[in-house]
Amino acid sequence: MQYLAVAYTRDIPAGRVYPVLVGGRELILVRDGQDNVYALDGLCPHRHLPLAGAEVWKGVLECPWHHFQYDVRTGENLYPRRVYPAQLAARLGDHVRPLRIYPVRTVDEQIQVGMPEAGGTPRFP
Ligand code: FES
Repeated sequence: MQYLAVAYTRDIPAGRVYPVLVGGRELILVRDGQDNVYALDGLCPHRHLPLAGAEVWKGVLECPWHHFQYDVRTGENLYPRRVYPAQLAARLGDHVRPLRIYPVRTVDEQIQVGMPEAGGTPRFP
């Protein structure tokens, strides 16, 4: 695991995502309702479209394309998975894939994201 500096805490707006490119991967940084910062994949698992325009409210991220919702703390799919009875939710298959999350640490106001392997040079947007 290698931690790479990707932004400063002051860069992350409340209620919106902050896109970063880390080692060639599109990620997003978001705040939950308690001001914690999380790093998640920047592409929605539904149709692999960018989450750059997503909105975040009380720890729930909503994709701007088809309005799927994810818990920013765990990446869990909340919509559509939680609106169907369990026996029907099992049939949703790929529509309920979670959003991948990455470990985050803050050092002197600098946000660092843990990448599973050497990821190259991060680029600020
Ligand atoms: S691409 Fe995100 S909900 Fe469809």
